[in-house]
Amino acid sequence: MKQKPLFIVLDGGDGAGTTTHSQLLKGFLESSQGLKVYLTQEPSQSKIGILIREFLKNKEIPPTTDALLFAADRDLHYQNEIKTKLEEGYIVISDRYIESSIVYQSVQSDKISVDWVKQINKFVGLPDITIILDIEPKIALARKDDEDLEKFEDTSFLDKVRNLYLIRAKQEGYFIISSDDIIEIVQEKIQEIVIDKLKSMS
Ligand code: TYD
Repeated sequence: MKQKPLFIVLDGGDGAGTTTHSQLLKGFLESSQGLKVYLTQEPSQSKIGILIREFLKNKEIPPTTDALLFAADRDLHYQNEIKTKLEEGYIVISDRYIESSIVYQSVQSDKISVDWVKQINKFVGLPDITIILDIEPKIALARKDDEDLEKFEDTSFLDKVRNLYLIRAKQEGYFIISSDDIIEIVQEKIQEIVIDKLKSMS
């Protein structure tokens, strides 16, 4: 049977485990289900993505510049990479996507509204499934080395980020999974959501 494309996004606050769970999900879908999976992440590997990663260490960059760069990175990422892979029939998993911009950039500044972030991101395709991994920032940051912290990795900022993810998830009907549980349990819940979706498509 020909595999149908599916676009899955794992999103959430820093330290929620989007990278670990995206990798585990890819492994599961490939080895247990025999599916073709393309794993990608944002910021992307493009020159814009590399510049953004540099700026993550720099508190002097205006939030509006961040927002525009993340949108440009995503536009390129979607048009040149994600869309192509979906057209080839892959299941695409993106570790972070538009919801990261909506949440992180609008929390960064009163000048930035959710609607404006949506506007500057309006040319990209939307995911079929968005799963928000939810974790208490204090727990998430305790796992990190203080020396390596990026500008968004601050408990009070991440508390606001967490609240907005939860509000957005309820508004948009995204799946929310608590990432406080052990990795295996969290991963099983993610797999269940994806398997249900695949069944509904067959
Ligand atoms: P992160 O997933 O933490 O990358 P890594 O695990 O490799 O350090 O993502 C980098 C940071 O960028 C994270 O703090 C969230 C932030 N971010 C935004 O502010 N807006 C966005 O649109 C995206 C994709 C990420």
